[in-house]
Amino acid sequence: MSSPRRPLVGGNWKMHLTVVETTAYLARFVPALESDGPEVVLFPGFTLLPAARELGPDGSVAIGGQDLHPEPRGAHTGDVSGPQLVDVGCSWVLCGHSERRHDHGESDDLVAAKVAAATAHGLTPMICVGETADERAADRTLEVLDRQLRAAVGAAVGAGVDRYALAYEPVWAIGTGLTATPQIAQDAHRFLRRLLAEVAGETRAESCRILYGGSVNPGNAADLISQPDLDGFLVGGASLDPEKFLTIIRACGS
Ligand code: PGA
Repeated sequence: MSSPRRPLVGGNWKMHLTVVETTAYLARFVPALESDGPEVVLFPGFTLLPAARELGPDGSVAIGGQDLHPEPRGAHTGDVSGPQLVDVGCSWVLCGHSERRHDHGESDDLVAAKVAAATAHGLTPMICVGETADERAADRTLEVLDRQLRAAVGAAVGAGVDRYALAYEPVWAIGTGLTATPQIAQDAHRFLRRLLAEVAGETRAESCRILYGGSVNPGNAADLISQPDLDGFLVGGASLDPEKFLTIIRACGS
């Protein structure tokens, strides 16, 4: 079934690559993108953002930060603010990635504050939600998704902003090689879209891109994207290889 939403594909580089590697990557990647393909956004590490901005000048690739602090400035050693991301050319930012929630103990309230800060500075948040293996085993998946979505999307709705995307990333599938089946992903995406209708309204629910993330690779992308409520991918490991990432992007059509 074809979707009314333009596909969106994000590459989350996490804590990988150097400036030299970024330049080499983009020199191969950017010219190979098709102009009528999906919208593409890269999330390089903070130190790589200026190099990434240099090579995506025609707007074919947007760049985003992997995180931001809720405050615009201040005594927060090691953090990066929304204005600093905008300053180096970011238009997107990840909020609530499970590695932030788990490695750094980020709560739903903190994720909500980050979404509010992102929107205040003109950044588009890509809001990540997803259950752990234990939560799924305990049949708590929908409860977790409900809690995470209400907190994060509620912050955008409260700010009067409808500029955000969602990424469903089951934690048990991230970096594990265990991909959700197309049906598991579709069921979660359908649930999230229904919830969005409740929280943000029917029109916004229909227009919002909901990406799937968790061990997406060139071999499983086509099956996953055939599901009606999947609007693209947030890709970690496979986005580090420009050829693999391009194959995944092409699978999403236009
Ligand atoms: P993965 O990561 O594709 O390596 O599983 C996805 C993500 O964490 O965004």
